[in-house]
Amino acid sequence: MTGRHRLTSVETIEEEGAWLFTVRDSHDENTEVLLVPCENPEGEAVEAWVNRCTHEAQALYREGVGAVIREGEVVCPKHGSTFDTCSGYCDNGEAAETSLVSVDIEVENGQVYLVDENAQFMYEGPSNDDGGRTGPSSTSHLQL
Ligand code: FES
Repeated sequence: MTGRHRLTSVETIEEEGAWLFTVRDSHDENTEVLLVPCENPEGEAVEAWVNRCTHEAQALYREGVGAVIREGEVVCPKHGSTFDTCSGYCDNGEAAETSLVSVDIEVENGQVYLVDENAQFMYEGPSNDDGGRTGPSSTSHLQL
């Protein structure tokens, strides 16, 4: 069990437009996750999506650039498909009729918590690929 881990505040996400962090997933890989503002009738103010376009695995949030969010949709910087920040669904362009991969979070008293039992919080910000902390090799695990 991973319990729950406080990530940041809703206010910070709204101010910055999006917030990126890295988890260790169930395959023991580092995965980037994107927190984005989401306004819906239930009042949930934030959603969490794996930072990877469903078309060609393009990062939606890029270091130094951030994420482009327009009218409640995250814009893929590669081919321009847009994903609803609340549902993760895309109805346009190259990624049409797909959805981003969700990560379980909770929002309580304006704070956002990671509660996904398949995702262990690593650190704020982008993945460092090998992380520099597990194993000596950074080149062998993506062999074809
Ligand atoms: S990689 Fe995102 S739409 Fe093509």
